[in-house]
Amino acid sequence: MTSGSPVVRAELARAAQEEVEHLAWTGRRIAELGGRVSLLNPLWYGGALAIGLLAGAAGDRWNLGFLAETERQVGAHLDSHLQRLPAGDRKSREIVAQMRSDELSHAATAVRLGARELPSPVGLAMRAAARVMTTLAYRL
Ligand SMILES: [Fe+2]
Ligand SMILES: [Fe+2]
Repeated sequence: MTSGSPVVRAELARAAQEEVEHLAWTGRRIAELGGRVSLLNPLWYGGALAIGLLAGAAGDRWNLGFLAETERQVGAHLDSHLQRLPAGDRKSREIVAQMRSDELSHAATAVRLGARELPSPVGLAMRAAARVMTTLAYRL
């Protein structure tokens, strides 16, 4: 929505399409297991859009830097799920493993397109915010 570069727009649209698939796979799996998604989902979507627009306003290279750092952190988060998921739950494990590989490839794409490395306090703040979000999402 904020980038003027057709290449960046096309690559991000492709990544976004994969994110839609992630939501579909996880939504279906959660339903199969008799669970439910977080009641705070509208807040996550709205917040993510707002943060994305802010990052976009800082220009493509910072925006891509934010994307790369986000995807790396999501990849690490999914690693922790792979460590905790029961070995016998092949379906869930396959979904998480595929998402992890997609996220890391989104990070690589952002770097290839010229992502700037974020200052480390920003990465730390993002990690802290993510901890709050995942804790809340787990409970609500
Ligand atoms: Fe994803
Ligand atoms: Fe991603």
